[in-house]
Amino acid sequence: MINDSLRQLLRHHLAWWGLRRFASDPDYFAWQRQQFSPDDLKQLAWHVERKREGDRHDEIAFYDLAAHPKIFPVLYSQRYDYYEAIAPRVAAHCGEATSILDFGCGLGILTSFCAHMFPKKSFVGVDRSSASIAVAREQADRLGLRNLRFDCMDGDAQRLSGCYDLVVATHALLQAEHDPGLPSRSWRTFERGPESAPQLSFEQRTGLGRRLDNLIEVLCSGGRMILFEKTRQLARRVPFQRALAARGLQPLEPLIPIRYYSVEERVDDGPYYWLQRGNQKGIAWDESPEPDEGHPFSSETIALRTDPERPLYENHWPSAQAAWEQLVDREVLAETTRQQLDGRQVHVERGQLPGFQYLYCANTFDQRQLVIVEQARAAMLEVYYEEILRGLF
Ligand SMILES: C[S@@+](CC[C@H](N)C(=O)[O-])C[C@H]1O[C@@H](n2cnc3c(N)ncnc32)[C@H](O)[C@@H]1O
Repeated sequence: MINDSLRQLLRHHLAWWGLRRFASDPDYFAWQRQQFSPDDLKQLAWHVERKREGDRHDEIAFYDLAAHPKIFPVLYSQRYDYYEAIAPRVAAHCGEATSILDFGCGLGILTSFCAHMFPKKSFVGVDRSSASIAVAREQADRLGLRNLRFDCMDGDAQRLSGCYDLVVATHALLQAEHDPGLPSRSWRTFERGPESAPQLSFEQRTGLGRRLDNLIEVLCSGGRMILFEKTRQLARRVPFQRALAARGLQPLEPLIPIRYYSVEERVDDGPYYWLQRGNQKGIAWDESPEPDEGHPFSSETIALRTDPERPLYENHWPSAQAAWEQLVDREVLAETTRQQLDGRQVHVERGQLPGFQYLYCANTFDQRQLVIVEQARAAMLEVYYEEILRGLF
């Protein structure tokens, strides 16, 4: 789907915006230091912190500052790979629509790329950062785009108007990055209970419910949606999907987990949702953990170990649960289950199998860990077990 000419067009577009691609942190930060004074950096760091800790005013203040012409090329260059991962996918779907809304469009980097690609389609970008919208309008004028309008409005407090057959929201609906989401029913399972109160609470405290209701109001009958949010952790993906399902949205194609780099940092993001409202033929929602890199415990996996200092077997992925369940002849030597103050339930267990010792750790936010060592190294797991216990109090 992402062909070379589309990629070239996008790179040209990003360069026009002043974005640069960096693969190394030292190179990126050297460029950042050339562009920003120490005072600029201090001010930015302060706003980043306020955005993390504060309310919507702090978030708006951050995006207003980030829209400054001296600042945005440097900050948004960290998102270069993100645009490469997302923009061609969004553009490919714009061809099937006539009127497109980009909610939380920021500076309109993505919106202007799509509007440029499809001059016959009409695009509207909305954002609550007035400085971002001012830049978006100015740049659309400079690009000579006549099929694109930008409105400044807060989708939490004001009602959107119009009717769109494609609604796009990328990194705009579920900004509360530190919200852990919805815990599973117990440490033994990845399943979430059916109760509506925790779901409602999630939608309210993150603002997701208000934003989605607003978007649904302006989605034409049979209209489609592209959503891309930080919902890779199951505890956030499940309530996100339940919010979508409750509003009649269903995936039109399997969800696409996306990996990109923010300079050197690997980001596992998404998934990319391509949805339609009221489509009976859509794909059923899936609430299970995504396939991971863990292996079952077997003589073959033990044989794969190359470093004798390392345990015989380690699995730090959700699949560690299936591996632990496979240990049918295990004997539990010590175990503790704790309910923590934030509601998280944690279980830690140490035990033995013929010839081996194991340690298993599981919690209600889908973290799993299974470590297996030879009998002779049992003391190592005892120490590890005690360390985990100390961390629980
Ligand atoms: C991380 S930026 C993403 C910008 C753009 N969608 C992209 O992918 O590059 C998030 C944007 O969403 C906007 N936003 C968040 N909540 C909003 C709301 N309730 N109404 C309008 N804009 C909102 C912010 O102001 C910010 O510009």
